[in-house]
Amino acid sequence: MTTIAALDTFYPGELWPDNNGVHINAHGGGILLHEGTYYWFGEHKIEGTAGNAAHVGVHCYSSTDLYNWKDEGIALAVSDDPASDIVKGNVIERPKVIHCAATGKFVMWFHLELAGQSYKAARTATAISDTPTGPYKFLESFRPNAGHWPINVPDELKKPLTPEESATLAALNLHGGPTPGYPTDQIFRRDFAGGQMSRDMTLFVDDDGAAYHIHASEDNGVLHISQLTADYLRPSGKYARFFPGQFNEAPALFKRNGKYYLLSSGCTGWDPNAARSAVADSIWGPWTELGNPCIGPNAELTFDGQATHVLPVPGIPDAYIFLADRWQPKNAIDGRYLWLPIDFTADTPHIEWFNSWDLSYFTDR
Ligand code: GAL
Repeated sequence: MTTIAALDTFYPGELWPDNNGVHINAHGGGILLHEGTYYWFGEHKIEGTAGNAAHVGVHCYSSTDLYNWKDEGIALAVSDDPASDIVKGNVIERPKVIHCAATGKFVMWFHLELAGQSYKAARTATAISDTPTGPYKFLESFRPNAGHWPINVPDELKKPLTPEESATLAALNLHGGPTPGYPTDQIFRRDFAGGQMSRDMTLFVDDDGAAYHIHASEDNGVLHISQLTADYLRPSGKYARFFPGQFNEAPALFKRNGKYYLLSSGCTGWDPNAARSAVADSIWGPWTELGNPCIGPNAELTFDGQATHVLPVPGIPDAYIFLADRWQPKNAIDGRYLWLPIDFTADTPHIEWFNSWDLSYFTDR
């Protein structure tokens, strides 16, 4: 039996061996801390460009120290049933798991795209388990908040599109990135009845137990923050729109000293761009933009990464870790992880590159 030496250092961008010496396969991931153990959930990728779709499912790893991760296997498996929403070959991205204290269940949300439709379905999906590592049972996929108006739009916008607006909108080439003529106040109206588009996403549980789904909507042009029901299984119907026309994706939300912070990226597909940050006193806004939190060489490309999660480290004051993916779309399984410490100047976050670092960074700085 081979003994794998214990790790005590983060090496952003390098291969990250699990307890079997295999590079961790949990891309676009997020971390749940439950009863002293961290659980990392992410997209299981396969080799080549095929790996950009889901052929296996959502992979789970566990750790008690954040450096050494034990392979816990596939938490949510894709289906062989062609009628299933999660049939092999669909797109399953950015899975996040939260624990619902009220029901005792572990609830997974992820971005789902249906086979053969590229990214047009723009759905979110849920799965549930009694244990953190699963197996999770797939529940449903949908576009959130059908039949509900956002809480932060004026009454005069709470109406369907006119035929003229529909025609102009239909003629636009909405491709998920900045688009000339993008209408900032129409797509949520178009999608009122059928539900709001939902692509890149994250989840956030507040101190009071309220949970939120933060997702790129309206053809990626507007970010939606949507409160979940008390069992975390559905959108509650209360949601708001932020940064209309600014095309944010890769959202990660965290709370520090009573303020809410949102990290995100622009919309350039697998290619990196400059990260963004914003702060608010209430999750419902107003959100104040703080610019690119990354500093130093290659900051303008987020060190070739894209945000996926921010992990507060309990027990260490003011310790927050930025988790990002360095995608490898030509050989998806080779995607790398960038974990970097977040620093603050007053209330403004900064992220600097380190070839290697460890948790003593937070206590020694
Ligand atoms: C990225 C997004 C990824 C994936 C990719 C597909 O912008 O953050 O999660 O959807 O686009 O091109």
